[in-house]
Amino acid sequence: MLRKILVTNALPYANGDIHLGHLVGYIQADIWVRFQRMRGHTVHYVCADDTHGTPIMLRAESEGITPEDLINRVHGEHLRDFTDFGVIFDNYHSTHSPENRAYAEDIYTHLKTANLIEARAIEQFYDPIKEMFLPDRFIKGECPKCGAEDQYGDNCEVCGAAYAPTDLKNPRSAVSGATPELRTSEHYFFRLSDPRAVAFLREWTTSETRPGVRRLQQEAANKMREWLGADGDNKLSDWDISRDAPYFGFEIPDAPGKYFYVWLDAPIGYLASFKNLADKSDGIVAEDYIDAPKAAALGTEMVHFIGKDILYFHALFWPAMLEFAGYRTPNQLCVNGFLTVDGAKMSKSRGTFITARSWLDQKLDPEALRYYFASKSNGSMEDVDLNLDDMIARVNADLIGKFINLASRSAGFINKRFDGRLGAIDNDATLAFISAWKENSIADAFESRDYGRALREVMRLADLANQYVNDTKPWELAKQEGAEEALHIACSTALTLFRDLTRYLKPVLPSLAEKVEQFLNIDPLDWQGEWQPLPAGHRIDPYNHLMTRIERTRIDSLIEANRDTLSKG
Ligand code: MSP
Ligand code: ZN
Repeated sequence: MLRKILVTNALPYANGDIHLGHLVGYIQADIWVRFQRMRGHTVHYVCADDTHGTPIMLRAESEGITPEDLINRVHGEHLRDFTDFGVIFDNYHSTHSPENRAYAEDIYTHLKTANLIEARAIEQFYDPIKEMFLPDRFIKGECPKCGAEDQYGDNCEVCGAAYAPTDLKNPRSAVSGATPELRTSEHYFFRLSDPRAVAFLREWTTSETRPGVRRLQQEAANKMREWLGADGDNKLSDWDISRDAPYFGFEIPDAPGKYFYVWLDAPIGYLASFKNLADKSDGIVAEDYIDAPKAAALGTEMVHFIGKDILYFHALFWPAMLEFAGYRTPNQLCVNGFLTVDGAKMSKSRGTFITARSWLDQKLDPEALRYYFASKSNGSMEDVDLNLDDMIARVNADLIGKFINLASRSAGFINKRFDGRLGAIDNDATLAFISAWKENSIADAFESRDYGRALREVMRLADLANQYVNDTKPWELAKQEGAEEALHIACSTALTLFRDLTRYLKPVLPSLAEKVEQFLNIDPLDWQGEWQPLPAGHRIDPYNHLMTRIERTRIDSLIEANRDTLSKG
């Protein structure tokens, strides 16, 4: 059955550069999308910048520009970074868009009608100089537990304690330095504690999305059980979805001076980006993927790729918002772990807080990173370690040593001795490849996002192909009298196997695969139908260099370029 899937990636905040940590989840999603398309499924792949909230408002102010100017600039930078890493969205939109406002208002209005919105007065720190309420992250003071100075309003980085900003000793505003005052203000809450919401979430988080496929990974399902508590008790609290002016965001209908909290309209940005895409494309109907009855009738899917730090928003608030506003709910959350570099958290002082742009500036191949991240991804929420020496060794050994080498050893003879034309194939050499094809062993691993397993299987096949070349020794056949045909068969067979390896690597290495398709002079590789060898008589182009080894010196320069000697992080 052919599937119709709306795939989204988490929307990056519009106030920072894309770094290698971000790229883990974007690359995982992009690989999955490319794989699904090669299998013939329809995928709409969208993202956007997450543009609202206090940090973006203040950042723009400190740069002396409007928030709109800031988010426009960053939009261009983000889109360029993703594109250069081969993460190709069908649409890269913005949460500060008319579509997003319309959906946010509509969802909010439905939730209100369903009696799931409640107004309540709360006390909060207020900066009397800046004349604004302060988010926890903009309040600093001494930790109430260990006394460490200069700690944020929500938790202590020294002793790890979590607390409310009102617990801090000697609190001050990180914006103006003023001592904050407690003030009362009316806020709107989404009543997640309502028994309807709890019952829905229990069902949603435990049900299968398709036969044999769960909505959540095991670790995410465990988290949900913890958050939801045992049957009968209710551990969910209501969610504060409003903020007071001044705020960069959407004003709440019929509530002057009150704005939607950034996390209310952020995931709605998935729908807004898709709607914007549908409206400018032929043949895509947004409602087919967004309306609950239409989506159910057509069997369209919605799959979100996110990092583990934002699971709470996506597994609790988001499905409940959609459900009670009459929208379709997500089929699946694909949650990635966090990136560490050489076993430690990314650090500016160590130079391991590596921006996407700096990787490209050092002329490092973006596909080397895609390959390494894929090889370390197993479909779980475990953290992913970028071990720099291991990456160099893995990429050079697998891609140059095993993969590219296969083509460079056989293509020359085809060009020089056979006028670029392929001959017959050694059928025995293709057997392992045909059974991998029939058994879907690699495809199943891609489907379940266990890219590490997929690539291990591909490299096993690459070993077999290289073994074949080592056994037939084309370089010796080339010197022997009367071995023309054997040479022709050996090289044609090797190139057919190389074509297959390229197909399997294509979701991970799309631009390398494109170069191979050009050199082999073949149509874009897909992953459907019957296995076929390259036909005898097929003409290939001259072999050109396909990929360069990674040198440690480049990585050293990369670390230097990212080292921030002023920061203590
Ligand atoms: N704006 C929110 C997401 C809103 S989605 C409706 C956000 N933005 S973010 O820029 O902080 O992160 C974007 C994505 O990158 C998230 O999925 C986040 O989990 C992921 N990552 C950010 N840092 C990361 C690492 N160091 N490692 C792996 N993923 C990381 O969250
Ligand atoms: Zn402390």
